[in-house]
Amino acid sequence: MKKANLAIWCSAASTGEEPYSLAITVAELFGQIPSNVKILASDLDTHVLDKARQGVYPQERVAKLPESLLQKYFLRGSGAHADHVRVRPELQSMLTFRQINLLDTSWPMRGPFDVIFCRNVMIYFDKPTQYAILAKFVPLMAQEGLLFAGHSESFHHAADLFKLRGKTVCGLTETAKKRACRSEGR
Ligand SMILES: C[S@@+](CC[C@H](N)C(=O)[O-])C[C@H]1O[C@@H](n2cnc3c(N)ncnc32)[C@H](O)[C@@H]1O
Repeated sequence: MKKANLAIWCSAASTGEEPYSLAITVAELFGQIPSNVKILASDLDTHVLDKARQGVYPQERVAKLPESLLQKYFLRGSGAHADHVRVRPELQSMLTFRQINLLDTSWPMRGPFDVIFCRNVMIYFDKPTQYAILAKFVPLMAQEGLLFAGHSESFHHAADLFKLRGKTVCGLTETAKKRACRSEGR
């Protein structure tokens, strides 16, 4: 991934709705598509990743988006594709797609990430496995980085690594920051 001023990792990106929503949120915040914000969208499943990479969705998937956002960030299909939309390439340029298995002992990227989204995937794993994944996030996170979980997920069993900063948002504990700091200085 290209060096970015803000690096976001969406670690269970599925068919792309989550990372594209993040990209839209960031672009709206910046008032343009920023060149210094990069989103790594990964998933174990190459089939869903291919769909994410294509960025083509049936109209009904975007039906709840305001018309202004639809116009700004999507192209409407025509002819046989009239019932589909495609994410505009400018928005897609913020994203990099990559197959990554959260269960692998090591991951191919270095970080640091300012934000990691790990939503609705930990539910598949037992607590020790979740802990092992969370421990692997630590050296990849920026000191003040944030980790977002799903609404039904909690990481209380990793209280030595992450402390709650909001309902489903965590930051590194002071102890974990030291570990992240040592890794950042590699
Ligand atoms: C329920 S979806 C969550 C999608 C998205 N994060 C959300 O909250 O809408 C779970 C995703 O986790 C992915 N997944 C399952 N096991 C995984 C693993 N070991 N490593 C990476 N991704 C995994 C699945 O392929 C699936 O796309």
